[in-house]
Amino acid sequence: MTAFGSNVPDRLRDLPVPLLQAPMGAVSSPAMACAVAAAGAVGSVGLYRTIDTTELHRIGRKLARASGQVAVGLVPELLPDNDVRRQITTIAAATRPGTWWLTFGPLSDDVAGELCATRRPWLAQVGTVAEAHCMLERGATGIIGQGVEAGGRQLGSARRDQLLRDLRMNFPAATIGAAGGVTSAREIRRTTELGADFACAGTLFVASTESNAHRFYQQQVVDGMGCETVITDAFSIGWPRRHRVLRRCLPSPTATRLSRIGTRHGTAGPEPVFSHTPTVPTHDFRGDVSRLALYAGTGIDAITRTSSCSDIIERLAAKPRPVTTPTRRRPS
Ligand SMILES: Cc1cc2nc3c(=O)[nH]c(=O)nc-3n(C[C@H](O)[C@H](O)[C@H](O)COP(=O)(O)O)c2cc1C
Repeated sequence: MTAFGSNVPDRLRDLPVPLLQAPMGAVSSPAMACAVAAAGAVGSVGLYRTIDTTELHRIGRKLARASGQVAVGLVPELLPDNDVRRQITTIAAATRPGTWWLTFGPLSDDVAGELCATRRPWLAQVGTVAEAHCMLERGATGIIGQGVEAGGRQLGSARRDQLLRDLRMNFPAATIGAAGGVTSAREIRRTTELGADFACAGTLFVASTESNAHRFYQQQVVDGMGCETVITDAFSIGWPRRHRVLRRCLPSPTATRLSRIGTRHGTAGPEPVFSHTPTVPTHDFRGDVSRLALYAGTGIDAITRTSSCSDIIERLAAKPRPVTTPTRRRPS
């Protein structure tokens, strides 16, 4: 057993709420990251496939104005190393030195070296103990264990709490976060009781007012139940990883694959969107939104309305009310 890592970085330990908002591609915006950071947790953006330097600068400059801690999420398995390096150097030049890196899944030695060279803290999201070992050996500051309860792409096949126990047992001194199904103060407490230094939540913020999610998608998350989510490979064209979505968005087995279902009107101009692909339903989509992947984790039962990120964090920070035994009224 190797004792990786040292102490939990003070900046994480001192957070009013030990929570990191997960990057969610185009759904998580700089506005969301800054709002979460201002409210006392760590906010993030996901760069996904963005490689345009002007756009990367724009994102970086917005994050640089955050009044709390922010992070930038990379998915190195989706791009050639050259493009990931471009994301890293451009964002590093535009943001403040304390900005966190988050990575999702495997990456090359080159990318790990580039991340370490920025001398910024780096949290690697993983689905297995072996992957965690590999990331810590390559210089990650800490790891986030993603359990199968998670919304979106799946990194492993273990349940969150079991993975967390295994990670803590194998890396007793490392900084460890837990992701998957975290939508309440109770779940955050559960992860910390099981040895996590912080929890990581994505779905919780899909229906926030700062989210870029499409109104229809937000409503589905508000109305949906955890038992209505399933792990599937229905939306794998372009990113062959299984993912957790709401069952109601699954295409019929006879539906034509890669049929055009609408257009995204993003900063890069209009882009056609096709069925069976990973495209997240964002507010700039025009077309048949019900045919896009409605990513959601098992914790959605606790999401009952649209709220601002600060309200969400405030609810998580609230101390549970003491249980009071009802007092009998004295007969007058
Ligand atoms: C809509 C959506 C999009 C996501 N996109 C990304 C992404 O681009 N990069 C990434 O690192 N993780 C992404 N994730 C996964 C999160 O990092 C995290 O594992 C997950 O949200 C945790 O589970 P929860 O959704 O139950 O909180 C996404 C999750 C969701 C729900």
